[in-house]
Order: sequence, then structure tokens, then C-alpha cells
Amino acid sequence: MTAFPPRAARQDVRCPGNGIASGVGHELVRIKGGLLLEESIGTAMISAHADAPLALFQDTEYSVPELGFAFCSWCYPGSAAGTCDLVMGGVSMDMGLKDRVALVTGAGSGIGLATTRLLASEGARVVAADLDPNLAEGPAVLTVKVDLSVAGGPEAAVARAIDAWGRIDILVNNVGRLEFRDGFLSVCDDEWKSILDLNFFSTVRACRAALPHMLAQRSGAIVTIASDQGRQPEPSSVDYCVSKAASLMLSKALAKEFGPMGVRSNCVSPGPTRTPAWDTPGGFADSLSEQYSMDRDGAVEHFAKFVKMIPAGRLGKPEEIASTVAYLASDLALYINGADYRVDGGLVAGV
Ligand SMILES: NC(=O)c1ccc[n+]([C@@H]2O[C@H](COP(=O)([O-])OP(=O)(O)OC[C@H]3O[C@@H](n4cnc5c(N)ncnc54)[C@H](O)[C@@H]3O)[C@@H](O)[C@H]2O)c1
Repeated sequence: MTAFPPRAARQDVRCPGNGIASGVGHELVRIKGGLLLEESIGTAMISAHADAPLALFQDTEYSVPELGFAFCSWCYPGSAAGTCDLVMGGVSMDMGLKDRVALVTGAGSGIGLATTRLLASEGARVVAADLDPNLAEGPAVLTVKVDLSVAGGPEAAVARAIDAWGRIDILVNNVGRLEFRDGFLSVCDDEWKSILDLNFFSTVRACRAALPHMLAQRSGAIVTIASDQGRQPEPSSVDYCVSKAASLMLSKALAKEFGPMGVRSNCVSPGPTRTPAWDTPGGFADSLSEQYSMDRDGAVEHFAKFVKMIPAGRLGKPEEIASTVAYLASDLALYINGADYRVDGGLVAGV
């Protein structure tokens, strides 16, 4: 990775007001003053206003992870007014997550794994809970092998964070599973229960275990992973849709009840995201491949462009969800509570 040049070498470059995209997944094309980044910056979130200089360094290549989150002072009220102050520390932006204690459920794969890695790379200490958490292992990561679908599982994961570090600042309710069904009439009670136990009650139980600690600290951030299907029903996964709609409401209810006590609760609703849930043998990609008589990649592309008609024309990447989760968990989002961030390439078009 490119190291940032010393601050003295900094050159302020002014955003011309039309050269910088704001938000997730846009392309940063050009910053007036010579810095030219033509590559898609993918998950980087850049905000700038016409008159705010950006403290990027000219003639320096920035990789996506380095850029990560960049806020000019106009967008990030904590920095000095009128002067842009990108918050940079070493090779990555300092999101203020250093030494925060986080629990990520379903951390062994996909979105949970990407979130665990990003939080750890930002200096957080992470408890990674999963049936198989091995891939999440890392210097600042404590893995916990646990079944999160049963009473006692989420509670044990929270207890691990408290035992190890005496606090819990961030809870990411990520674990979840989708099963394809033949419509509502085909789903029996045990199937409903199985999906709700994992996708919804794991969140209820983790929140119930974590909240007393967050309330005692008078601070905490809960981020729950919902789905575009929490808003848009799919008969082929009706139980999953209901579990995600319930998670959206739970998140808002927690925001309302505990916001006054310093705890924020927000959702991230991914659209279809290419995780191992898609690519493991027998996963979604194989189903699509069979359905459309195409190879897996062709079938996934066909699905994204012509079936789901995702404006971005592709599936999301786990890192593109993780960056929004980390943002919502950080103090950069201190005034965001009860929100649902759709990270879906434009899929859900309703207001
Ligand atoms: N991938 C998508 O297209 C997509 C889209 C919208 C929302 N989501 C949501 O994002 C979240 C993560 O999805 P993903 O695609 O990254 O999943 P994934 O299948 O890649 O990973 C899920 C992880 O959960 C773990 N897990 C499953 N059951 C468990 C249990 N009982 N106890 C402990 N761990 C268990 C698995 O071992 C795995 O590591 C889910 O809530 C999912 O509903 C995913």
C-alpha cells in the first residue's frame, strides 16, 4: 500500500463541485488541481462541497482501502470549520474505531467476514461469532464457535467480548440464511421457525445481551443487516422476507427506545451480494446457472442485469456492504439513528 506523504507535502485540491461523487459506489473521476482517479472507487465514500478543499496528495495513487471514507469538514462537523480535514491515520482513514470492541455475528464468511476484517483493520477489537469462524482469525480478532440460532448462542458471544475486554461498543447483527421455497403454502412451521430463529431471534438475543452493557457505558452502536427483501416481497423466500422486515422494525424500535441513552441502532439493507452463499456448490449461482442454462458467471450477470434489473448492472461485493456497516458503527455517524441504508446498486427504487 502507498504510505501517505507527510502532512507538509499535502496539497489542497479544490473540488470543482461537479467532479466528485458523493455517496457509496459512485465513481470519483477528477479532482481539480491535477489529481486524477479514473478507476471506479467502488466502496469509497467521498463527500465534498464546491468550496471545500480536499486534503488529498497530488501525484499519489490511492487505493480503495486507503481512501475508504473521506469527509471534508463540511460533511464531518468534528473537523475545523472551513478547512477540509480528511481524517487519515497511516495508510487508512481514522474512523475513530481504534480499540472499540465489536461483536460480529456470522463473521466466518461473506459480509460478516468482510466487516470483521474492516473493523479490525481500523483498530477495533472484534469478537467473530460463527459456526465456523476460522477465516476471521486475526491479531485483533477473537473467534467464537457458536450456534447463533439457539437461545444462549448470541448471549455467549456477547459474554466473550465482556470477558475479554470488559465492554461492547459495536454489535453487528449479520448472521442470516435464505432458503428457496415453493411459495407460502409450501413453508411448514419448522421451516418458519428455523429461519426466524437464525435471522431474527439471533438479533433479539444479541441485542438483549449487549444493551445492558451499552446502556451502562451510555454509548453503543448496533448495526443490523436486513435485505432488499425486507421491503420487497419474494414468494420464493417468504419466510426470509418476513424475518428481514421484522429486523428492520426491531432496529427502529431500539433506536427510539435507546437513542436517548446513547445507543444508536441502524440497518444496512444489501441487495444481492456475491458472497459464498452464492458461490458454494449448490448455492444461488448454481441454481441460476441451471435455471438459465448458462455458466455461473453468465447466469449471475444475467440475473443482475435483466432479471433484478439492478441499475448498477452487477451484484454487490461484501466489502461494499462492510464499508457502510463500519461507517454506521463509527462516530462519523453519531447523528444517524433508526436509519436503513440501502446498499443495493439502486435496486430498491421506491421512496
Ligand atoms: N448475499 C446476499 O446476496 C445478501 C443480500 C441481502 C442480505 N444478505 C444478508 O447478509 C447477511 C450475510 O449474508 P452472506 O451472504 O454474507 O452469508 P454467508 O452465507 O456468506 O455467511 C453466513 C455465515 O453465517 C454463518 N452461520 C450460519 N448459520 C449459523 C448459525 N446457526 N450459527 C452461527 N453462524 C451461522 C455461516 O457459517 C456463515 O459463515 C445475512 O443476514 C443475509 O441475509 C445477504
